[in-house]
Amino acid sequence: MENAKLILDGKTFELPILIGTEGEKAIDILKLRAESSYITFDPGFGNTGACKSAITFIDGEKGILRYRGIPIEQLAEKSTFVETSYFLINGKLPTKTELKQYSLSFTRSAKLHKDMKKMFAGYPSSAHPMAVLSAMVCSLSGFHPELTKLNPSADDIQGMAAQLLSKVRTISAYSYRKSVGKPFLEPRDDLAYIPNFLHMLFSTPRKEYKIHEDVVKALQTLFILHADHEQNCSTSAVRLVGSSKANLFASVSAGVCALWGPLHGGANEEVVEMLEEIYRSGGKVEKFIEKAKDHTGNYRLMGFGHRVYKNYDPRAKIIKERAHALLKKMGIHDPLLDIAVRLEEIVLKDEYFVTRKLYPNVDFYSGLIYKAIGIPTNMFPVLFAIGRLPGWIAHWKEMREDKDSRLGRPRQIYTGDKIRDYVPIEQRK
Ligand code: SDX
Repeated sequence: MENAKLILDGKTFELPILIGTEGEKAIDILKLRAESSYITFDPGFGNTGACKSAITFIDGEKGILRYRGIPIEQLAEKSTFVETSYFLINGKLPTKTELKQYSLSFTRSAKLHKDMKKMFAGYPSSAHPMAVLSAMVCSLSGFHPELTKLNPSADDIQGMAAQLLSKVRTISAYSYRKSVGKPFLEPRDDLAYIPNFLHMLFSTPRKEYKIHEDVVKALQTLFILHADHEQNCSTSAVRLVGSSKANLFASVSAGVCALWGPLHGGANEEVVEMLEEIYRSGGKVEKFIEKAKDHTGNYRLMGFGHRVYKNYDPRAKIIKERAHALLKKMGIHDPLLDIAVRLEEIVLKDEYFVTRKLYPNVDFYSGLIYKAIGIPTNMFPVLFAIGRLPGWIAHWKEMREDKDSRLGRPRQIYTGDKIRDYVPIEQRK
């Protein structure tokens, strides 16, 4: 394909065109500033490709999502979260032996160091679990210095991945137990990934939590659906921090912080709070829809809209079905689900939302499943983080293995004062 031509100050600059596997096109501006002194301007990077990646493909117009080429619908139906994690990070589906080894590495890495357990005592029980998670994840650098070399080997990276993927469950469960004043329970060697998490969340020293297969399947699906989403805000944070050669634990900790924001992974917590407010107000969804359309305020319908999807988020479709199925199986009638369905029906016909292509996103129904399982709303972003962890690791690894990757350092357009002199304090007004 011939180069793009850009005419600046009467001079023509030729810029190469990049074409992706699925036909996406980009103008390569790598040399633009050096040759023309111009930069491009794109706040929020909505039109800017930060990297080349082989991990996830999204077609926002068609509502397509594939991990390493496999449609998300097939993985949600047939895979497990541990298998999908291996697949995303290593680029291939594991053999039976590889999967067994991978699961074993999680069993070996599940327990926290006794000094890390003591760190929980320093937090008030009211501490948001995302604050605890981000701090504990970064602190893993202190407990596993042998893995955090400047140039980690492939084994070091696999070691950090196993520590993170396994311990993130234990840390999350302990932050919940601390918030409800319950004792910490050790992970069990005989339980698989999700049953072990549920055990650490809900068992008591005297009574084992009864593992319901439907609950495990619902969490399995949610974690798989959250596992990666190309260059979203938190993954971009992990890549940017990792580009300075910060270790994987520190980079993932930055990802946890970015995910916490209500415009991103914190939205699942906000959705349930919004639905509860609608319920308390007598279920009048129309009032909240009108409020979200009124731009004088900055109220938004949480769980709707997406920077990339301008069609129904394929994950939301699956999660909606799973929410209905799980609540029915558990014999739960949650009025918030009725409100959510009604809200969606009205929004999808409302001209304001239709013209802006605002559909339910991954966060709209997920919280209703977590709520049915008995997980408190402030833990919802934590479950998003557990699901997203393999994606963060995969992108950090891809970036560090990419010989063309560079320190991330965007430019700016300066709009401040022109040069001026320092004024001694006696002369200031
Ligand atoms: C996730 O990037 C990813 O992949 C993220 C994610 C992942 O898996 O990593 O998919 C997970 O973060 C999903 C998004 C969760 N966030 C929310 O549900 C919060 C509510 N949604 C929004 O605030 C918003 O839709 C964003 C932040 C998600 C996207 O916003 P954009 O792309 O910056 O779009 P915008 O804010 O410029 O909105 C365009 C228009 C505006 O109106 P106009 O100025 O054109 O008149 O749409 C309006 C907005 O006011 N709008 C909404 C709205 N979302 C956008 N109006 C009401 N309610 C909303 N939810």
